[in-house]
Amino acid sequence: MHDHPQMAVLSKLLYGSMRVSSYDWVTAPCSGPRKGGLAKVVAVDELREAPCKASVLFPRSGGNIHALTAVTPCALLDVLAPPYAEDLGRPSTYFCDTPIPALPGFAVLEEVRLPEDFRVVGAPYVGPELAVDMDLYDDD
Ligand SMILES: [Fe+2]
Repeated sequence: MHDHPQMAVLSKLLYGSMRVSSYDWVTAPCSGPRKGGLAKVVAVDELREAPCKASVLFPRSGGNIHALTAVTPCALLDVLAPPYAEDLGRPSTYFCDTPIPALPGFAVLEEVRLPEDFRVVGAPYVGPELAVDMDLYDDD
């Protein structure tokens, strides 16, 4: 489970299916040695299967903190705006969630350390050129 601090993210499932669980912070997360706080459930293990509509999340709504689990081989296109930038206060942080039995629909999220061998690797896009047909947006 990871967050997108101060970002909007447009996501489009290109093929396959996945499950999404997501939260939004109820209050700004505590920053200290470990980031965490109270969060409200947005989605619980919600199935998404391509073709489906694109989704969007915002800094404080739409499921900014989420976990995506592949059900079948799948590809997800994410457009992050602005991108992660640790030096600008937009680091990628990972969390575990602990439900609160007395408060259904809420959980405490706590920052977790990732295994030493965990890697996120960027790669250049090598697919076909992407083009926007502006005639689709022309009012004439
Ligand atoms: Fe994400």
